[in-house]
Parts: sequence; C-alpha cells; structure tokens
Amino acid sequence: MQVTLCGWADRVRDHKGVIFIDLRDRWGRTQVVIGPDSGPAALAAARDVRSEWVLKVAGTVGARPEGTTNPKLATGGIEVVCTALEVLNEAETPVFQPGATDLPGEEVRLAHRWLDLRRPAMQENIFLRSRIVKIMRDHFDELGFIDVETPMLGKSTPEGARDYLVPSRLEHGSFFALPQSPQLYKQLLMMAGFDRYVQVAKCFRDEDLRADRQPEFTQLDVEMSFVEADDVMGVIEGLVRRTAREILGLDVPLPLPRLSWDEAMERFGHDAPDLRYGLEIADLTALAGESEFRVFRNAVEGGGRVRGIRVPGAAGTFSRKDLDELTAVAVEAGAKGLVWLKVEADGTWSGPVAKNLGPIADRLRAALGCEPGDLALIVADSFDVTCKALHTLRKRLGARLGLYDPRAMHFSWVVDFPMFARDAESGGWAAMHHPFTAPRPADLDMLESDPAACRAVAYDLVINGSEAGGGTIRIHDGATQEKVFTLLGITAEVARERFGFLLDALRGGAPPHGGIALGIDRWVMLFGGLESIRDVIAFPKTQKASDLMTGAPAPVETKQLVELGVRVVAPQPKPASTG
Ligand code: AMO
Ligand code: AMP
Repeated sequence: MQVTLCGWADRVRDHKGVIFIDLRDRWGRTQVVIGPDSGPAALAAARDVRSEWVLKVAGTVGARPEGTTNPKLATGGIEVVCTALEVLNEAETPVFQPGATDLPGEEVRLAHRWLDLRRPAMQENIFLRSRIVKIMRDHFDELGFIDVETPMLGKSTPEGARDYLVPSRLEHGSFFALPQSPQLYKQLLMMAGFDRYVQVAKCFRDEDLRADRQPEFTQLDVEMSFVEADDVMGVIEGLVRRTAREILGLDVPLPLPRLSWDEAMERFGHDAPDLRYGLEIADLTALAGESEFRVFRNAVEGGGRVRGIRVPGAAGTFSRKDLDELTAVAVEAGAKGLVWLKVEADGTWSGPVAKNLGPIADRLRAALGCEPGDLALIVADSFDVTCKALHTLRKRLGARLGLYDPRAMHFSWVVDFPMFARDAESGGWAAMHHPFTAPRPADLDMLESDPAACRAVAYDLVINGSEAGGGTIRIHDGATQEKVFTLLGITAEVARERFGFLLDALRGGAPPHGGIALGIDRWVMLFGGLESIRDVIAFPKTQKASDLMTGAPAPVETKQLVELGVRVVAPQPKPASTG
C-alpha cells in the first residue's frame, strides 16, 4: 500500500547506511526506512534530518522484517519503505525531546508548552478531553437542552472566590467581573423560558490553587426548569454511565449511591469522600467521656468529639517513625496530637497512652472493631478538626496500604448540605454553595430561627474522592431570596444594587428551577487516571496563576493605563522564578 505521511522526526538512527526515522504525528509513531531503494535524493535528505524536523514521506507500507517488530507500539509490526522524502521545515535543537522518557521539570514543560503538547501522553490527554466534551454535548443535545452563551464581561457572580476584574475604558472607576460561573445568567435563562440550558463555560476564580484547581477552568453548566433534585441528578447519572461506557468500557450501575452530608462527615470526615476503600471513622465520644485520660476528657468536656479509625493489620508493619509521621500529618491538619494504639496478640492495647485508657480499654476495641494486629488512630478535638485530621489520615493510609485499584472509578452523590457555614474571617454566615440555593422545603421555617440546622437541596457528584460537580435547586421566590441575603449579611440596599435584576426577575414569574455544573477539567483528569488538571488543559497556569509560556500576567503600556483611568500603586517587580 502506498502512503504519504506528514509529521515530526521523533528519532533518527543511521544503521550502516540505512536510515530509520520514527515519524510522529497525531495518530502515533511510524518507522520510516530510507535505504538504497529509496533513491539517492531521499537518502541524502534523510542524512541531514534531526529531531523535530517536519517531514513529508511517501512510501510503501510493509511488514517489518522478522525479529525487528516492536510489540509496544501500535505500529510496531509495520514500517514505511520511503520512496520520496521532503523536508517541510527544519527545527532548532529542541529544549527536550517530546519522544523521550526522561522529561524536564514541569516548569520547563510549561514554558515550552507547544513542544510539551507534542508528547504522545499529552496528545492523548487533549484527545480524551475532546472526546469527553463531545459525549457531554451529544448527551444534552439528545435530551433537548439548548446551548446558550453567557457574557464573560459581567457583574460579579459570587461563588466564594475573588473576582478577576476588567477595567472599563468608557466608565473610569467601573469594572467588569469575569464570571466565577454563569450562575445568575443561567437562572435568568430559566426565567426567560428556555427550560433546559447547557453550556461549556469558562469560569474565572482568583483563589488559592492546587493540583485540581485552576484560576481559569471549564464547567459543563446545566440548568433546568420545573424540576426537582432527582431530575437533575438523573440527567447527570445518564451522562456518568455513558461516559464510563464509551471512555473506559465500564458498566456503572444506576442509581448512584447517595450519602447525606452529615453521614459523609461522620463516616469519612469529608464532603467528597473517597469510597474506593473503607477506613471508616468510629465515634468514640461517649466512651471517651468515661475515661480519666486527660486528652479525651478535655475534648469531651469542651464540647468536642473523640473519633478514630481502625487500620487493619497495621500494628506489625507501622514503625515508630511511620507513626511519628502520621502524627505530624494529623498535626498539620490542625489536630493537637494523635493517639495511636496497637492491639497485641492477647487483645490488650499497647502504645504510649495504652495505660491511660483504664476501664474503657475493652469497649474501645469493640467500638473501633479492632482485632489483634490492628492499629487504631484517635483524634480528640472539635468536630471540624477531627474531620480534617482523620480525612487526611484516611487518604494517606488508603494510598500507602494500596487499599484500592488506582484504575477503579467510584461515583456517588453527597446530598443535603447545610445551607450555611460560619465564615472564618467575619464570623457571620456564609452560603455553603451559593446564595441562590433553596433550603429543603421542610427546613424553610428554620431559615431564620436556626440557620445552622437548615439543610439545602444540594447535591455534589463525587468521583474517587474528588468533587466532580455540584448543584442545587434554586430559590425561585423573591421573598425567600431576600431572607437569605439578609442572613448572609447583605442588606436590602446592597442586595438591590448588586442583584436587583435577579430580584425583579424572581418577582416577574420565575419557574421552579435547578441545575448543576460539572468540572470538565476534573472529569477528564479522573477519567484519564491523572494526578493534575494541568495535564488536561492545553495551556494551563502555574500554582502562582501565571502562564510560563506567554509570560502573562505582564505589565502594560502606561498609555493603556491612562486610557483605562487606572493607576498602579506599587508596581511589583516580576519575580524571577514562577511556579
Ligand atoms: P461549584 O463552585 O461547585 O458550583 O463548581 C462546579 C464544579 O466546578 C469545578 N471547579 C473547578 N475546577 C477547576 N478549578 C477550579 N478552580 C474549580 N472550581 C470549581 C468542580 C466543581 O464541582 N454555579 C455553581 C453550579 C450550580 O449551582 O449549578 C458552581 O459553580 O468540579
Ligand atoms: P501529651 O500528654 O500532650 O504529650 O499527649 C499524649 C499523647 O496524646 C501524645 O501521643 C499526643 O500526640 C496525643 N494527643 C495529645 N492531644 C491530642 C488530641 N487532642 N487528640 C489526639 N491525640 C492527642
């Protein structure tokens, strides 16, 4: 068969006058052989070829000779015997070889992202992303959703982060905010009668970054009218099933398991628990209250909790150094310390505080479900701190003990979140999801009398311990919305100024509605079995929210600032190292 291939020279070898070029393109790598039969012109051209030159090769596809096949490559059984070779472009020596296995650090890769994206692994990630987004679009299209674009230049949409602001040239001193999400626009689309909306939407949040957070990321944003939580969740479950089948060949049974927020926090210490393994938290507070052990007593008397996890079979394998490390992990997560206890063969406890347990020793073992050879880890503190510390320990242990298959996928919902949480800075109430979330109808009466107890009609999709999506049923009457604003410390005046358009629309015939947004970057990361969303974003930012390739953000011309009516207070010299 005659073929013409275009691509990049991945590897060039000269083997006794026969030149082998691995040609790399978006489909993979193909071995090209340029020998005496290829003619003198092709041979001469091939001798000059270096890594990353751009080539056009015509030739005949044939089986590789016996003993030279490479079963690791999809194209390892064939080669192209070249009949004509054209150099389309030369390349300077690349900073690193996209085909090599020894890669430079991420900073170098990000600074030369166009080169990094040539790597087969990166190409696969970007293709995977495109396939997943296509499945999402198809799914919603088939269900009658319509795709509507919402503005990038708008007014602040609070999702709990800082806004990225854009100064107005025509109204000095006024700013657009880039959307933290299309939340208000999609609700207004429901009020406008569109019924079923979907959008692949860019969102911007100026917040602390981590491996699963970017300042600029993409949501699959969804809103529906005349629905309840189950309807929204059902649509997403269909998408989960379809994506798992088409991407991984997995059969996900529906409906997905559901956990209330309270249960998730009690059993796993986190609102997005990794359910691929056990290591559940046991509550030991009542028992600990009977103990004389100072650490337990102090916590119980102070209104806190004593909670622990059983680590099966770990008594023999965890050294003193390992336990000191776990203690450091707990302390880093806010705990004052970590009680560790081992169950000996005769059923008694050992460990530095074993003798302090006194009369509760046996019952403590039963409460934790511990058997000889097990390790118990206990934290005594406020509920929040015990959650944080035990969640962190659980994650650490799940990975260290290999308690799950890293390729396994676990999908679940966490529902019935609290409406409000105390804001650490102001001490006032903050919306747990966002201020437009509806309370459960049964809790409506408690909205003002007992906000802490009030639960929201809210649902988060959790994949392998990662929050992969979140949504709520919305408030659709103006009076309740105003009450919630008041609780959040937003005065009627401020509410009118910031959200007057919403309050008017809520009073202008708003249908009951609700929706959800999926984090597309996180979906692709999780379905691709990857560790960082930076690997599924073509041009991501660093942890310091900068783009190492283009150098953004960067200072601008004084003329531009003057036009915008913006004066920079203290120009910061650009740090030499970003990352
Ligand atoms: P929420 O803030 O929960 O909800 O966001 C929805 C989903 O978006 C993803 N996500 C992120 N991904 C990458 N980087 C980030 N910085 C980032 N922040 C969030 C997560 C998250 O579950 N308007 C509501 C949705 C709704 O109520 O319909 C919203 O934005 O996967
Ligand atoms: P101390 O007497 O403070 O040195 O604590 C005795 C043991 O209890 C040490 O192993 C500490 O790590 C542990 N410890 C102290 N405070 C707590 C706490 N609040 N929760 C769990 N363990 C604790």
